[in-house]
Amino acid sequence: MSDFAKRLIAWQKQHGRHDLPWQNTTDAYAIYVSEIMLQQSQVSTVIGYYQKFMQRFPTLASLAQASQDEVLQYWSGLGYYSRARNLHKTAQRIATDYAGVFPDDFTVMQSLPGIGRSTAAAIASFAFGQVQTILDGNVKRVLARHFRVSGWTGSKKVEQQLWQLAESLLPQQGMVAYTQGLMDLGATVCTRSHPKCAACPMQSSCAALQANCVNTLPTPKPKKTIPQKQTTMLVLRHGEQIMLEKRPSSGIWGGLWSFPETDATDDLAALVQTRFGLSANSQAPLATISHAFSHYKLSIQVQPMHVAQRSSHVSEPQYSWLSLEEANAAGIPTPVRKILQLLLAETQTKKST
Ligand code: ADE
Ligand code: SF4
Repeated sequence: MSDFAKRLIAWQKQHGRHDLPWQNTTDAYAIYVSEIMLQQSQVSTVIGYYQKFMQRFPTLASLAQASQDEVLQYWSGLGYYSRARNLHKTAQRIATDYAGVFPDDFTVMQSLPGIGRSTAAAIASFAFGQVQTILDGNVKRVLARHFRVSGWTGSKKVEQQLWQLAESLLPQQGMVAYTQGLMDLGATVCTRSHPKCAACPMQSSCAALQANCVNTLPTPKPKKTIPQKQTTMLVLRHGEQIMLEKRPSSGIWGGLWSFPETDATDDLAALVQTRFGLSANSQAPLATISHAFSHYKLSIQVQPMHVAQRSSHVSEPQYSWLSLEEANAAGIPTPVRKILQLLLAETQTKKST
């Protein structure tokens, strides 16, 4: 047996949890219900729900025969309700396909709704003493630290590494204490913050402790820092018409018709005069529109400006004065279409009053 398993089992027997409502049973159904509840809920939250649920649905058959409504009633407040729907479905499937007997086959378990590899391993080891490893969030943290595995534990590559590690540590006997020990160590000693390394049965072999990098493991999920960019779209209006410009063929919205953009926030009249040779007055900002690209988010200030006279300066083919309807029929990006819709709504309001 691995030293890791030997020490973990000894520690679990002396310092682990022994009186949780789903312990001290080999009833696969009772263990199954607890494992599903514990997938995304805290032990302290689950205890009350578990007791009421098991009182109402003490057997697989009683759960299979219940209505989904009632099952959901008993799950109400626990969240992640697909767990309850899957629990109900699985009970019914076991009733019809497995003669009402919870399957002891590790592969069959994983074919049932809501039972993944780690949950199947917990049931297999607790109910049937099978040699299968769990790997939930807590166990990932323990292994990442003890074996100093860096990289986000949610990535395929690191996860596969951890499954292999976890399998290599499995004892051939004592699976109930071993599996519970993994859970207990992660929940009570090797906690996310302020792990109690001084009280840990693994401290003599823990690579993270030896390298003084407990606090940097497990590697946090990479934050997709999606940059926020800002722009102002100038809605130049002359009578019923607005001005669009054709964007350069390369880059964002290449070749599409859009409102002229600027980074400037003041002296817009001067800017419009310089850039387009137009005399314009700023009106009240119309809206702020958000647009998400794959690599950044764009916040668009919509700035209407009243143009007194359409001078001949803007006669180049990249500029076009169009009615709102004409603009709407042009090749325009989504934010421009949204702005046109705002303008159309505005003119319709004006017409009706
Ligand atoms: N989390 C998942 N399964 C558990 C169990 N059997 N005991 C305590 N916490 C758990
Ligand atoms: Fe976790 Fe510390 Fe134990 Fe290492 S020594 S397994 S970091 S609690």
